[in-house]
Amino acid sequence: MSTSLSEKFRPKLHLTAKYGWINDPNGLICVDGVYHAFYQHDPNSIRHGPMHWGHASSRDLVNWIQHEVALFPDENGTCFSGCAVETEEGQIKLIYTSHRFDEAGRDFQQQSLVHADRSLSKFEKEPSNPVIKNSGLGCFRDPKVFWHGESGRWIMALAHGATVGQSIGFHSSVDLNNWTFESEFGNEDGRHGSGPWECPDLLPMVAPDGSKHWILVAGIGDEAYAPGSGTMYFIGQFDGKTFTNSNPRETELWLDYGRDYYAAQSFFGAHKDAPLALAWSNNWKYSQQTPMEEFSGLMSLPRHLRLVETPDGLRLGSFVPDAVSGAFPTIDLSSGQAQPPSGTYRLEKTVSLAPGSQVALSLFSADRPQFTFLRDENGRTRIRQVRDAYGDMNEFAHDYDIEAGDLGTFTLEVFVDNGLVELNLDKIIWTTNVYYPDTPGGAVALTGI
Ligand code: FRU
Repeated sequence: MSTSLSEKFRPKLHLTAKYGWINDPNGLICVDGVYHAFYQHDPNSIRHGPMHWGHASSRDLVNWIQHEVALFPDENGTCFSGCAVETEEGQIKLIYTSHRFDEAGRDFQQQSLVHADRSLSKFEKEPSNPVIKNSGLGCFRDPKVFWHGESGRWIMALAHGATVGQSIGFHSSVDLNNWTFESEFGNEDGRHGSGPWECPDLLPMVAPDGSKHWILVAGIGDEAYAPGSGTMYFIGQFDGKTFTNSNPRETELWLDYGRDYYAAQSFFGAHKDAPLALAWSNNWKYSQQTPMEEFSGLMSLPRHLRLVETPDGLRLGSFVPDAVSGAFPTIDLSSGQAQPPSGTYRLEKTVSLAPGSQVALSLFSADRPQFTFLRDENGRTRIRQVRDAYGDMNEFAHDYDIEAGDLGTFTLEVFVDNGLVELNLDKIIWTTNVYYPDTPGGAVALTGI
């Protein structure tokens, strides 16, 4: 029996839907030791269509169980992205965007509330939905809610804007039903390409020196660091009403520099000192043209986020939990060559680059390396990453450089799972990219070491 293309590229250690389309992770929450991941889902198509919330759960973040579809479209529209929270009384609520088109065919988005049981198997929509009505914004979606202890209120961050929407709005509430608009951030900060800002997250974090910061994460829909979608973040302060950027407005910080890491969200109620984030490993540029048949779309590995001090200033590092990392067979690259046991493996290698030298990494028995690490005469290192065209996928091919700072010696870590490659230098510079190789378990070579 021949394997379908989608099954050939189905990852072993990443979350996928059994059938149908997925995009953003939604409603990430850990309840009674179980991680729940909902996701944007069309159970009837492998392309983006009327959005439902699919649902999977896991105790170890390695083995995922698929559940019944959790949220279905209703009279308020389809179910766009959103979040989950647990109240002090132990109640579980989902908050999502109801999306429909108005008479003029424009996006019309409002926020809805769902009451769930603790096993997250029963979902009752709030009869007074939508709990936040649209007041005329063209972009008003993707609520991410958390409890802000200092002001004793729930805070919602969401994509916000008159038309395309390139800012994040903040609302507050004491009961999750009645919301007050507080402020808007971002119109003049960070990257403003042609796409919307989407799927925000706002996280309190402590730096190694004990100072407290707030991290605002935002998906940049198009013209991110590389063509198409990407995930940016800001380091700043949040006082319960307003987010203030601590860096100059033009600063651009990226959670991942690759083409396939989007709509990152953290799990509610888990790992307060190092939030755990999950992202959609795809890109709106070409996600509608993937060569998949039974299912389309996959999630990144979960990654803990921590603030780290670097020569360039405070940055977010991303750390794959040990249990997840340990589930990957690690290949030995000490000779510079390795034949992985299958298309699912991990490698780790210390690389030292003298000024003016370079090292190249080639996966899947490819003649041309996908990644080259180059250090210039001034000591600045960059990653050149290339990917060939595939099928009819729009702007899938790329050839661009990622600036990695003054890095002479670094630890290179790579997770490969049937075409999905998540690579990092010292856990700080990450690049996540999907490939469709002839031989997902093909040979690995590191040359120039
Ligand atoms: C981001 C996004 C969200 C929206 C969802 C629709 O990838 O565009 O803004 O809620 O996907 O599926």
